[in-house]
Amino acid sequence: MATLTTFMSSVILILVILCPSIHAKPSKGIRAAYWPSFNSFPASSIQTSLFTHIYYAFLLPDPATFKLTITSEDQTKLPDFISSLRALNPPVKTLLSIGGGGNNATVFSEMVSTKQSRQVFINSSIEIARKYGFHGVDLDWEFPADVVDMSNLALLYKQWRQSLDQEAKASGKPRLLLTSAVYYASEFTVYGGPRSYPAGAISKYLDWASPMCFDYHGSWENFTGAHAALYDSKSNISTDYGIRSWIQAGVPAKKLVMGLPLYGKSWTLRDQKVNGVGAAAVGVGPGDGGILLYHQIVDLNARTNATVVFDNQTVSYYSYSGSTWIGYDDVGSVRLKVRFAKKMGLGGYFFWALGQDKDWILSHQASDTWKYGGGSV
Ligand SMILES: *[C@@H]1O[C@H](CO)[C@@H](O)[C@H](O)[C@H]1NC(C)=O
Ligand SMILES: *[C@@H]1O[C@H](CO)[C@@H](O)[C@H](O)[C@H]1NC(C)=O
Ligand SMILES: *[C@@H]1O[C@H](CO)[C@@H](O)[C@H](O)[C@H]1NC(C)=O
Ligand SMILES: *[C@@H]1O[C@H](CO)[C@@H](O)[C@H](O)[C@H]1NC(C)=O
Ligand SMILES: *[C@@H]1O[C@H](CO)[C@@H](O)[C@H](O)[C@H]1NC(C)=O
Ligand SMILES: *[C@@H]1O[C@H](CO)[C@@H](O)[C@H](O)[C@H]1NC(C)=O
Repeated sequence: MATLTTFMSSVILILVILCPSIHAKPSKGIRAAYWPSFNSFPASSIQTSLFTHIYYAFLLPDPATFKLTITSEDQTKLPDFISSLRALNPPVKTLLSIGGGGNNATVFSEMVSTKQSRQVFINSSIEIARKYGFHGVDLDWEFPADVVDMSNLALLYKQWRQSLDQEAKASGKPRLLLTSAVYYASEFTVYGGPRSYPAGAISKYLDWASPMCFDYHGSWENFTGAHAALYDSKSNISTDYGIRSWIQAGVPAKKLVMGLPLYGKSWTLRDQKVNGVGAAAVGVGPGDGGILLYHQIVDLNARTNATVVFDNQTVSYYSYSGSTWIGYDDVGSVRLKVRFAKKMGLGGYFFWALGQDKDWILSHQASDTWKYGGGSV
């Protein structure tokens, strides 16, 4: 019986593995990931079969000149990143990302405020992207603070795209891609006044925008939470709400590339026995400021014999052991989220960030789900 079952499972497994490649054409789309240049994960070990686009993260504009700063680290890492990826098969496209979570938003605000300063910034981005051999440029300004910033951002996108078109014509090279990481929802009130992204300019001038569908909750709150919840019945802080807000604002679904985190958030529970989503917490849990990478979570769960729960309300996982509580994405929620992205007709998905996965498990799951549907479960 055991042997028969094992045999049958093997047959089914082989069918599941073989069928998609025989019968179904893989879906096209964007399967992207950011590569943090400040971490030690080598670009040469990226499994490029799982991705279509890799971002170099990040460069910053000089606060006085608005030209991009190349640090001494970048001087070695930029050429190494490009040559490492060029040596890998299948090939991926590379984008130079500007900004990032630790950026000084005021510098961007000043840069976008005049035509001249925008042009200096744009020219610098083109010069550096071409010098090192990137396929595109990406802006991750976190975040435009008010309606003035947002209207200047629209002007930047327009001027940038026009410059990219002109440069392509003049150089005879394929145009550089233009993309932008944006807040999970198209309008927001946190970190500034009420404001909306320029959906018209995004639709017209960008190849795609990448809503950052994560960091919804954290240790600044006194309760546990799913920091990248797909759904939330009690609030608008969810990926479902955010993606719909972008589409409602007028950005075509095909131009949206949905963010997925390869990290979780931890808390310390007030009462070990009260341990669901929304349980009272007294502060941050393990990790760097309450942030644990997926591979650290898998290892910690095993080491502490943590209880792991799939929460089908938020479509997320959490684990707890003693008073430690961690909210994160795992195989099952990644599969459901990528299916959601496909069902919504999105252009693809991206991960923050390379080097945080465990043996490419989640990257693999996302890629398989995008291309073939991701199995029957
Ligand atoms: C951010 O940039 C502005 C403008 O250059 C500067 O005045 C401010 O001190 C900077 N803030 C930080 C925290 O570096
Ligand atoms: C930007 O580059 C274009 C094309 O090379 C050039 O004509 C223009 O003068 C440059 N502008 C600035 C502000 O550097
Ligand atoms: C969610 O957003 C909608 C508008 O998009 C608003 O009408 C509603 O009040 C919001 N709900 C909550 C709980 O904030
Ligand atoms: C969190 O704090 C707020 C006020 O600071 C309080 O009203 C709320 O009950 C607390 N929630 C939990 C779960 O302890
Ligand atoms: C791990 O936890 C389970 C229950 O969640 C328990 O049955 C088992 O004995 C524990 N194992 C160890 C090694 O603590
Ligand atoms: C969650 O699971 C319960 C029990 O299996 C089921 O009744 C419910 O419909 C599920 N909810 C969602 C949102 O999938």
